[in-house]
Parts: sequence; structure tokens; C-alpha cells
Amino acid sequence: MSKVLVYEKSFLRLGIVLLILCLGALLYANIAMGIHLPGRGGLIDPEHLEETPPFNEPGVHQTGPNQYDVVVRAYAFLFVPAEIRLPVGAEVTFIATSRDVIHGFNVEGTRINMMLIPGQISRNTYTFTEPGEHLLICHEYCGIGHHLMHGKIIVE
Ligand code: CUA
Repeated sequence: MSKVLVYEKSFLRLGIVLLILCLGALLYANIAMGIHLPGRGGLIDPEHLEETPPFNEPGVHQTGPNQYDVVVRAYAFLFVPAEIRLPVGAEVTFIATSRDVIHGFNVEGTRINMMLIPGQISRNTYTFTEPGEHLLICHEYCGIGHHLMHGKIIVE
């Protein structure tokens, strides 16, 4: 057998092993960690965003003794609401979507980092452990006013 064939076979084997590892990682993320694409409950008609709950009432809503939902609508080039006030130590779930084009939702100094896609609802739960101010920024280029698109989160 020529040397080329031997190398070729080992590369093929390596390819198969990598494929199995990647499929395994995908299955693990999907089944064990529960990470998947949004289901039907995560879809929304962006044309009727302003009338569709929960986006008909953007803002901070208390859902439990120490739990809050923060509903945010994103437009070119603003967040509604632009200023969000939250108590320190509360479990906060951000629920956001876009009315028009793809926007970003990134809270400076935290791991909150979402993409807002028209027609899809993005969620992220977080607890602010210290009081302070955080900038909310759009980190997906969305047009001429992209650099002006920001909000503020005040933890008190
Ligand atoms: Cu919105 Cu960039």
C-alpha cells in the first residue's frame, strides 16, 4: 500500500471521529442542557408587535416575590423602554424582540448577550448582584443610526 493511501485513510478516520464528536456535542447541548431553537411559543408576528402580549406592555413586571420580567421592544434605532430600573438581587428575565431588522441586546459588564430577530422572541435570565448602572447596547449593525441605539439599566 502506498504511503499516500495510508495518510488518506487516517485523515478519513479522523474526519469520522470528529463528526461523531460534533454530533455528540450537539445532542448533549440539545437533550442534556436543553438548548434549542425557539419553538412555536417563541414566535411572534412583528407586524402586530404593539398589540401582542407581552409586548403590548413593555417595561418591568413583577412575576414573583423576587422575580421580574423585563419586556423590551427594539426598533431602528431605539429600545422601548430605554431606561430600566431593577432591584438588586432579583431574578430578572429579559424578554425582547425586534419590530423591524436584526438588533443586538448586550448589557455591558454582564453575560446578557442576545440577538433580536423580527418574528422571534429572545429570553435571558440574569441576577444583578450589585447596584450600579449598565449600558444596554445594540451590537448588531442595524443601519445608519446603529451607534445611537442604546439604553440604560439601573440596579438599585
Ligand atoms: Cu440596532 Cu444596531
